[in-house]
Amino acid sequence: MLVEFRNVSKSYRSGLMAVTGINLTIDKGEFVLLVGPSGAGKTTIMKMIYMDEFPTRGEVIVGRYSSKSIGGRKIAMLRRQVGVVFQEFRLLRDLTVFENIALPLRAAGKRESEIKKRVSNVLYSVGLSSKRHQFPLKLSGGEQQRVAIARAMALRPPLLLADEPTGNLDPDTSEQIFELLLDINRGGTSVLVATHEHDLAGRLGKRILRLDGGRLAGGGGDESCTS
Ligand SMILES: Nc1ncnc2c1ncn2[C@@H]1O[C@H](COP(=O)(O)OP(=O)(O)OP(=O)(O)O)[C@@H](O)[C@H]1O
Ligand SMILES: [Mg+2]
Repeated sequence: MLVEFRNVSKSYRSGLMAVTGINLTIDKGEFVLLVGPSGAGKTTIMKMIYMDEFPTRGEVIVGRYSSKSIGGRKIAMLRRQVGVVFQEFRLLRDLTVFENIALPLRAAGKRESEIKKRVSNVLYSVGLSSKRHQFPLKLSGGEQQRVAIARAMALRPPLLLADEPTGNLDPDTSEQIFELLLDINRGGTSVLVATHEHDLAGRLGKRILRLDGGRLAGGGGDESCTS
């Protein structure tokens, strides 16, 4: 799914400019890193992609949806095509691993037999088949994040957003999570990862968008290099 920002600026009610003059394109099947210090605007960009926030100026285009014309029902449709993963996992502690991953499938009205099949497949792909009946708080941080990734992938979205997915994890576990995200990308899903781990990001050899003070380095995303 194609993502395009056309001269996007966003200020919150406080009047502070969170991001300014953002132009960027993420092509189908791309793996892109969004790197920048705290307060740079990474989460703001993520939120505008799943249309939880809207530009003050400019336009965000995600697949066939535009920030200028999208409304309530279409936002729900868009979100079925965009998986989202957060730093703090956001799993429901009273539900098993299986039920956490089943949630978006149930919300989308999938049949029980289909849900069983899909949850099994996606749990297998994150290497956690044996934990299906466990509760989230019994899992390690890395395992919880893998469950969150499995949940985000349950509807097989063409785009996966991960906002500081390794912010609460140790370096080895972080590497494993990045490996998993690369694996998902090899399966054809576009992936955008926000992180301030620029060393790790640099080693991946993928396109890096550098954000600082709400602006992309060079004023746009086109010159950004792999390293
Ligand atoms: N809901 C909000 N209301 C007002 N200001 C906000 C809001 N969310 C973010 N901001 C401000 O917008 C700017 C960008 O914030 P954002 O959360 O996008 O940064 P970030 O790069 O994700 O930072 P971090 O690495 O700490 O998560 C910051 O100055 C922040 O204080
Ligand atoms: Mg953030």
